[in-house]
Amino acid sequence: MKHRWHRFLLLFFLVGLLVACDRRKPEYIIGVSQCSNDEWRVQMNKEILREALFYPGVEVKIRQAQDDNQRQINDIKEFIHRKVNLIIVAPNEAGAIAPVLEEAYEAGIPVVLVDRKIHSDKYTAYVGADNYEIGKKVGEYIVNALNGEGQVVEITGLKASTPAVERHRGMMEALKVAPGIHIVASADAGWFQDKARMVVDTILKRHSRIDLIFAQNDRMAIGAYQEALRQGREKNIVFIGVDAVAGKGYGVESVAKGELNATFIYPTGGDKVMQVAMSILKGKKYERENYLSTAAVNKDNARIMQMQTEHIFSLDHKIELLHSRLDDYFLRYSAQKMFLYACVVILVLVGFLLFFLVRAFWMKNRMNAELSAQKEQLECQRDQLQEQRDQLIELSRQLEEATHAKLAFFTSVSHDFRTPLTLIADPINQLLEEKHLSERDREMLEIVHRNVSILLRLITQILDFQKYECGKLDLRLSEFNVFEGVKEWTKAFHVLAFRKHIHFEVTAEGNVADYMMVADAEKMERIIYNLLSNAFKFTPEKGEVKVELSRKEQDLQSLLCLKVSDTGIGMSEEHAQHVFERFYQIDMQHTGSGLGLALVEAFTHLHHGQVKVATEEGKGTCFWVELPMRQEGEVKKVIEKNESLKNLQEGAVLDAGTETLHQLPKSVSVDGKIEKEVVLVIDDNQDVRDYIKMLLQEKYTVIEAVNGQEGVRQAMKYVPDVIICDVMMPVMDGIECCRRLKNELQTSHIPVMMLTAYTMDEQRIQGYDSGADSYLAKPFSAKLLLSRIRNLIDNRKRLKFKEDTVTSVQKQPLGEIDKGFVEKLKMLIDEKMGDSNLSVEDLGADLGLGRVQLYRKTKALTGYSPNELLRIARLKKAASLLASTEKTVAEITYEVGFSSPSYFTRCYKDYFGESPTDFLKRRDGKG
Ligand code: FRU
Repeated sequence: MKHRWHRFLLLFFLVGLLVACDRRKPEYIIGVSQCSNDEWRVQMNKEILREALFYPGVEVKIRQAQDDNQRQINDIKEFIHRKVNLIIVAPNEAGAIAPVLEEAYEAGIPVVLVDRKIHSDKYTAYVGADNYEIGKKVGEYIVNALNGEGQVVEITGLKASTPAVERHRGMMEALKVAPGIHIVASADAGWFQDKARMVVDTILKRHSRIDLIFAQNDRMAIGAYQEALRQGREKNIVFIGVDAVAGKGYGVESVAKGELNATFIYPTGGDKVMQVAMSILKGKKYERENYLSTAAVNKDNARIMQMQTEHIFSLDHKIELLHSRLDDYFLRYSAQKMFLYACVVILVLVGFLLFFLVRAFWMKNRMNAELSAQKEQLECQRDQLQEQRDQLIELSRQLEEATHAKLAFFTSVSHDFRTPLTLIADPINQLLEEKHLSERDREMLEIVHRNVSILLRLITQILDFQKYECGKLDLRLSEFNVFEGVKEWTKAFHVLAFRKHIHFEVTAEGNVADYMMVADAEKMERIIYNLLSNAFKFTPEKGEVKVELSRKEQDLQSLLCLKVSDTGIGMSEEHAQHVFERFYQIDMQHTGSGLGLALVEAFTHLHHGQVKVATEEGKGTCFWVELPMRQEGEVKKVIEKNESLKNLQEGAVLDAGTETLHQLPKSVSVDGKIEKEVVLVIDDNQDVRDYIKMLLQEKYTVIEAVNGQEGVRQAMKYVPDVIICDVMMPVMDGIECCRRLKNELQTSHIPVMMLTAYTMDEQRIQGYDSGADSYLAKPFSAKLLLSRIRNLIDNRKRLKFKEDTVTSVQKQPLGEIDKGFVEKLKMLIDEKMGDSNLSVEDLGADLGLGRVQLYRKTKALTGYSPNELLRIARLKKAASLLASTEKTVAEITYEVGFSSPSYFTRCYKDYFGESPTDFLKRRDGKG
């Protein structure tokens, strides 16, 4: 908006400037320098000014020097300095004024001389009378008036001015015709009346007879007359002057009155001067010398001249009047113009203002409309959000209800389970004490014992959690040294750490004695079990698990800080937020009941403490439990040990160690040395692996892996005949493992059977999408497992090369990778069979497989070892050569890559049932 007002101001300023410009600066300035200030010059100045009126844009500045050379020089210098466009000058003395006028002329300022001249040629034009001519006319008049005889006195003007010199010269020239006329006296009166009176006084006194006095201007002639009148001699003398200025007391009136006998018109010519000046300024044509004409005025024409002059004066007056009126009009006109401009500016401003007002109004309306539309939209969104929020609240309520229902269900089921489980556990324990058990039976019973323990722990945890939820879980306080306690409680995990090759340590900051606390020791113990179970479960071999104890003072309270950290697989930020929620399952890699950590939080809260978690995927996890060292409440001296605590500890350790291999698989030999087919079992649960192994080990060689990653490694190394793979596993789940197996050349042909506790279709689809060949849901029966494995191996065998090794295979439903492998193998054999030194290693190198991998893959896909395939191909080629060429048996032996004819003959007979020679005989009809 501010911006727009700037535009307004600018517009206003421009209009103002336009109006101001109308008072134009003069186009030309003309300087007029007069040497004197008598009536003759007053008239000339008036004429100049009047004429200037006809030239708009011209300003005239007039200076007069009062007959002083220096003053006139200064006036002219000022004109030069002010850079006037032209100088009009009547120089006082011809010599003295010349230099300054030359300076002006050379500075490019045109110089117009009037009335008088200078001793220089450097002027632009001259306007004035021809003074020599005037002098001549005066001379002629004298001759005439004196009839050629008489005594004459001459009163001259300023001798250094040109009119004085010229007029004298003209007069003398004319007097040459009358030798009887004598100039008896000549005196310089400098153009002044008073001075003329003085000199005439002297002359009259000296000369008794004087017939005529010629004064070079009227002023001096009148002075001479006045002096003669005073001396009473005026009647005998003829008085002649020059100028013929009209008006009271001047030359023409003196002639009319009979005081002067004659005067000669010396025209002022101000109008002409102005015309010439303007022609020069406008670059028009002009004359350099402009002479104005003269005439004699005597008693006869003086009156008429006076009348004419008066008439001229009145006309001049009218012109001036007209001009002043014009000036008035012009003033009024410009005032009106100003007013008009102001009106226009105001109108424009009002226009703009109106425009902006309308625009602002329109914009306001539009914005209002937009805002109300937005408001409506927002309201609509708000309603939707509210609806969604209500739905969410309802959903979370339902979820809460469902969770409660789940917990309630689990609780009631757990109650029901506990008794039968205890009844299973106890007899099993007793059975295990039996000395005469077979190893297989003992192993089976141990599996049952371990899993009953895990189930009992799970049930205890569910029941405890339910109690906590209902507020029925109390603290049973006792005083104990928590550091000693932790050391005791973690003993069982040291065994696990040793087995899993995990570095495990328990440390405390400061003095051991400082860790005496009042708390529920059993719950503290279980906090430790659960945190450690979790840490060990997700920490791979060679990792690190630490329990660190410290104390801190906060809000006048002593706090125990328990830190359990691991270098395990960690989890994402998002999962970390939910990790304490009951039944929370992260993903297939983070298996568990989802109760352990929820109980840790519950027990910590019971102790008025808090638990925090920090984790980074791939780097590890760290839990902090902070709780007051001294809990308020009744402290019991003796607390009976809860029977289930032993089970809880055992369960926690078992749960954490599920993925550990009991024993590493014995290396599996290859290249025909394996009698039994090889089965790879990939499962993180040791008991599952043990159980499957027990079921299979009679008929198959069983190798194991604890997770997908390990599984892929084992499969690449041993190329088993079939793979059994769990879906939910840490590090790499079963789906990803199967996808990788099916994409590797070494393992792509191996049938994979997915094994999972879930029977959901989606998991099945995921399993098949990843390339799984079969699917078995847990719990499975031993019979079903065995028959599925048998089927998978047999089906694979059915796909093997039949009699015609390579051609038939293309019709079989093999995967892309396996098809490509078989074709490449066939091409390689065809190409290289002539080389008797060709080895299985060479073929493997060409196919990107090791010796074992090539052997097991080829055997699995074709039923033959690579060597057998090579031999069959060679024999077939030999047979076709025998049938179609005249080559000898020896020649063919070497051509197809056998090293000796006798070995060739033996092989040939084994394969085709007759020796090559028998075949040739039969072919040639000799047999
Ligand atoms: C006026 C005047 C005239 C005379 C002329 C000569 O100043 O004295 O009377 O004719 O100058 O330049």
